[in-house]
Amino acid sequence: MTNYQNKQTDYLKLNLETKMVRGGTIRSNFGETSEAIFLNSGFAYNSAETAESRFNGEAPGYVYSRYLNPSLKMLEDKLALLEGAESTCVMASGMAAVFASIMCQIKAGDHFIASKVLFGSCYHIATKILPNYGIEVSLIDGTSKEEWENAFKKNTKVVFIETPANPNMEIIDIEFVANLCKKNSAKLIVDNIFSSPYCQKPFELGADIVVYSTTKHMDGQGRTLGGCVLGSTEFIKETLLPFHRHTGPALSPFNAWVILKSLETFTLRMERHCYNAQKIAEFLETNPKVKRVLYPNLKSHPQYEIAKKQMKNGGAMLAFEINGNKKDTFNFMNNLKIIDISNNLGDAKSLITHPATTTHSNISSEERLKIGITESMCRLSVGLEHIDDLTEDLKQALK
Ligand SMILES: Cc1ncc(COP(=O)(O)O)c(C=O)c1O
Repeated sequence: MTNYQNKQTDYLKLNLETKMVRGGTIRSNFGETSEAIFLNSGFAYNSAETAESRFNGEAPGYVYSRYLNPSLKMLEDKLALLEGAESTCVMASGMAAVFASIMCQIKAGDHFIASKVLFGSCYHIATKILPNYGIEVSLIDGTSKEEWENAFKKNTKVVFIETPANPNMEIIDIEFVANLCKKNSAKLIVDNIFSSPYCQKPFELGADIVVYSTTKHMDGQGRTLGGCVLGSTEFIKETLLPFHRHTGPALSPFNAWVILKSLETFTLRMERHCYNAQKIAEFLETNPKVKRVLYPNLKSHPQYEIAKKQMKNGGAMLAFEINGNKKDTFNFMNNLKIIDISNNLGDAKSLITHPATTTHSNISSEERLKIGITESMCRLSVGLEHIDDLTEDLKQALK
């Protein structure tokens, strides 16, 4: 057996593409080129003294895969490089990451603010779970500066936003909200899933914590569930890890390995996803069967100016409304020959969703209408197929 020495490279100084191919890699003594999978739950120690010193933090090393494991560590380090964060904690799903990022820092009597356009499960946490634990919740119009200015209270502890929001693509001014949070000593969590770190960097705009479902564009091929929370080393170590380690939403090392390998092609894939999405948004906007298109990089988007300020491009997600009712919308979806009907997103395969009857069906119809989720709204996660095949598919189904 050889004793492979890992290179001492400062990946922080390199470009994103290089960081994604090489960052985080830890080679074992065998010197394997592609990262190995550490599919183990526990670790053995050479002595009882070693076990003791690992547990009391005096010696480095792993103790249990619910805490950390070399496969998880490689993914955490690559994700920190991707986001430009000090630290990361990976979790079993995006929802585990969202829930832990909130619950680890809030208690009964605290106040929580969120924008009211949220993914169905995030909405459930805000409206059903947090109030059960004595947490005061305010859901506001995230696009209204006035509502933001009036929302903070003395006991406001955590603020949670999705931008672009799922599914209506509403854009919130991250810098504006981050400044209000700082003034009011509250922590801002940004769910950056719809944008992805390729298109938007919430830390550069003042966010304290960023969360992802790695299930989406980071895996990018619809295979694994996963999530992560990114933030300062102090927040991750002192606040999040004690919650994570003792409540157990650990990511499977196998899933961590799949996501790690996917990130090697992340920038290439995102470039194509975003190119395709821009072309489709422009195509749909000119089609008479389409009532309106919501894509951040279209001038017609209600928050186009904010999107331009904080996003590199329009991203890989869009929403649009068909000219017609629910039946017409279902007909259109059923007529698609390439694009699949699915509630998932961020796959190489283009996926179309009817939010009102799936991802957002747990929200009352009145609430849904207030935030523009009509029965003729479709959400499209644009994939990596050839753009001409995608536009042809949409064209023939709209006919
Ligand atoms: C905005 C947003 N947040 C969180 C999640 C949850 O991610 P996961 O399905 O990995 O738990 C999703 C899933 O679609 C989402 O769209």
